[in-house]
Amino acid sequence: MLLTNARLCGLPNGAPHGGVEDGAILIEDARIAWAGGREDLPDGDHGEVRDMGGRLVSPALIDCHTHIVHGGDRAAEFEMRLQGATYEEVARAGGGIVSTVRATRAMDEDALVVAALPRLDALIAEGVAVVEVKSGYGLDTDTELAMLRAARRLGELREVRIVTSFLGAHAVPQGSEADAYIDGVCIPALRAAHAEGLVDAVDGFCEGIAFSPAQIARVFDVAAELGLPVKLHAEQLSDLGGAKLAAARGALSADHLEYLGEDGVEAMAEAGTVAVILPGAFYTLRETRMPPVDLLCRHGVPMAVATDCNPGSSPMTSLLLAMNMACTLFRLTPEEALFGATRHAARALGLRDCGLIAPGMRADLAVWNVAHPAELAYRIGFNPLHARIIGGRP
Ligand code: NIG
Ligand code: FE
Repeated sequence: MLLTNARLCGLPNGAPHGGVEDGAILIEDARIAWAGGREDLPDGDHGEVRDMGGRLVSPALIDCHTHIVHGGDRAAEFEMRLQGATYEEVARAGGGIVSTVRATRAMDEDALVVAALPRLDALIAEGVAVVEVKSGYGLDTDTELAMLRAARRLGELREVRIVTSFLGAHAVPQGSEADAYIDGVCIPALRAAHAEGLVDAVDGFCEGIAFSPAQIARVFDVAAELGLPVKLHAEQLSDLGGAKLAAARGALSADHLEYLGEDGVEAMAEAGTVAVILPGAFYTLRETRMPPVDLLCRHGVPMAVATDCNPGSSPMTSLLLAMNMACTLFRLTPEEALFGATRHAARALGLRDCGLIAPGMRADLAVWNVAHPAELAYRIGFNPLHARIIGGRP
């Protein structure tokens, strides 16, 4: 198939946004065979030709950090925080993550799928083709596994690629002690989930209200033993050196990073660890300290942008809005935001076959009713998607 009369962005060239004004994409066997300016199109029989009507075609978007599988909501906590309570105060009072754990444990796998589908559909409606989904609201083996099975089922029910992260080290369940939970529950649950093929990566929450670097390191030891890549919620509310730990373990990504210092940035640059910035959580928690975007740029650390869709700190199901916030709140350029939701997001998930319009990549594309790629990050609450093309199929 040949897509023609398209503006292209997200090609691996030096133009702003990786752009080509009058382009074409040749698709063979669900992969991109060729992409570039129409005048350079190689001769031959290209099969079915589809006119894109001059629309912008980008790589399909990738949401590389979500918690879309969960039970319940935290609207009451939203009201508490508006009255002045902090995220940490809510968490210490038995609200926060632990309250979503109660709601999630009360649901079976089917109910978790039903609850997550509208959130997934909202992402898909904006041209998303890959969604990372974390566990972490079960904190017992049965519920962690149910969350991950629900995540896998989402990928069967919709034309979307689901990448799972085991996040057993998300919070200390009520009535438990952190070390005993890590060794007695989290690590055995990880082994059980891995044995069932449910885990693509291992995540953790390294924070005063969650787990110490030493506790996270024990979970990462088991990930290494099982051959699983790691990533980490790090430096969101304080600097415990989580990003350095993640980098030392060759992590795919370190996420949040508001309190990241230069030593952590250097370690990430050295290890090739992607910085996943999550402006939805920054906005919702009304944080004032920004992730060190300039430092990350200066050290050449790739930055991904994601929704962090979760019921507490980021009840957001719009990756386009996350891109907008990354620009307005964190001063990314629209080009950086687009790369953050495509090529760098792919890298944050360890995927090498998507996020870029280039030969050999999967033909997962988004077709937009916009004139310029900067419009994707510029608009607020408007969805300009015309169509998704997945594996070359419109
Ligand atoms: O990514 N930081 C920890 N985990 C989630 C918050 C989850 C929640 O509040 O339920 C996050 O922001
Ligand atoms: Fe998160």
